[in-house]
Amino acid sequence: MLELNERGLNLLQNKIYELSRIHIVDSKMAMIKNRIAKLTKDMDYSNIEELLKAIDKDKKLAQEFINVFTTNKTDFFRESFHFEDLLDRVLPSLFAKNRPIKIFCCASSTGQEPYSIACTALYAKKIYNSGAKIEITATDIDTEVLQIAKSGKYTLNPNLEKWPEWVYDEINEFFDIQDENPQVRHLSVKQKLKEMITFRQLNLFNKTYPFLSQDFDVIFCRNVLIYFKKNDQMEILSRLFGLLKINGTLYLGHSEGLYDLDVETEKLGRKIFIKKA
Ligand SMILES: C[S@@+](CC[C@H](N)C(=O)[O-])C[C@H]1O[C@@H](n2cnc3c(N)ncnc32)[C@H](O)[C@@H]1O
Repeated sequence: MLELNERGLNLLQNKIYELSRIHIVDSKMAMIKNRIAKLTKDMDYSNIEELLKAIDKDKKLAQEFINVFTTNKTDFFRESFHFEDLLDRVLPSLFAKNRPIKIFCCASSTGQEPYSIACTALYAKKIYNSGAKIEITATDIDTEVLQIAKSGKYTLNPNLEKWPEWVYDEINEFFDIQDENPQVRHLSVKQKLKEMITFRQLNLFNKTYPFLSQDFDVIFCRNVLIYFKKNDQMEILSRLFGLLKINGTLYLGHSEGLYDLDVETEKLGRKIFIKKA
């Protein structure tokens, strides 16, 4: 077991920040201890310096280190009013433009968020009778969650899920379902939804993104900014605004905001922002 004193914890805290900009506050040192114990349980590093050197040399270990420090909590149709807004306001007006629609989900975790977007897009096409091509790009820094997302297989307790009514009406369009018992449901995402989404790894703090400026009609950036310092949040937000088309929509998580960013936006409430000129 690795011995961890205050200095060691600080070194780890700095390394996490360097690799992901995830800012672990001093009061969460116990979390660093638990997670580093998980990472190193089958390894025999005798001190933190040795581990940190290995992380600098070995890309795979560096990725495992990042993976162990991300927090991946997510749900289908989390903050469901954003999906209602996408269905009722955003997609009908985009359908009228008769061109492909591009949506970016930039911290997609295990995939429930981009699949909820895909369900909404598919349902919108049906009710508005649109043949529009809708492409969803879903990214995350964590390679493990991306694997789960790509598999599209989930086990959940249906009694604890609260989805929009229309999802229950259409559920067999979106998922193959196997109920093990009333509390345990296995969902397998249908191929047609998977085909709408491209999953790829992206650290939001990479120097460049593989996208063009004003590439996207809609960006979901929910419940990830909270892990970053204010300046880092603002850096990401201004880059995301650069990727968003004029009149495009940005959705943030419930405890996130735009600070005093110098971007003209219309605020619809509930963390829904429209980019103006
Ligand atoms: C709490 S989850 C939010 C998932 C989803 N957006 C939602 O609202 O349900 C936060 C996600 O952000 C990802 N993340 C953290 N730092 C990141 C970074 N620097 N670049 C990209 N993704 C990051 C984590 O791996 C994690 O999956």
